[in-house]
Amino acid sequence: MPHIIAETATGTISFEAIVGQKLVLALEDNGVDILHRCGGNARCTTCRVELIVGDAGEMGPNEQAILSTKEGLNENTRLSCQIRVNGDMEVKVINQASVAGIEPGTRPED
Ligand code: FES
Repeated sequence: MPHIIAETATGTISFEAIVGQKLVLALEDNGVDILHRCGGNARCTTCRVELIVGDAGEMGPNEQAILSTKEGLNENTRLSCQIRVNGDMEVKVINQASVAGIEPGTRPED
């Protein structure tokens, strides 16, 4: 199973993820209150992460389009709702409900 390391606002965690699962759901199911305000539809970018180590796969057109509208993003910024876990990864979570003081949003579909 892919091993995920995630830097969060409350420290670094690591866990085993299910192959093919969306990264945003793997994070949420392992206790990270990551935001996903648009429900996983590549519209809000609140689910973004910085990819530190690993291969998150090719960026799809929807992800590419929305990220290109944002300025000042780290070049390794990806949308965790658009990533399927296929191998070990280390990421930094950018937005969490407990830090932002808002609800995470509708849970993305599997
Ligand atoms: Fe909105 Fe990923 S872009 S949840």
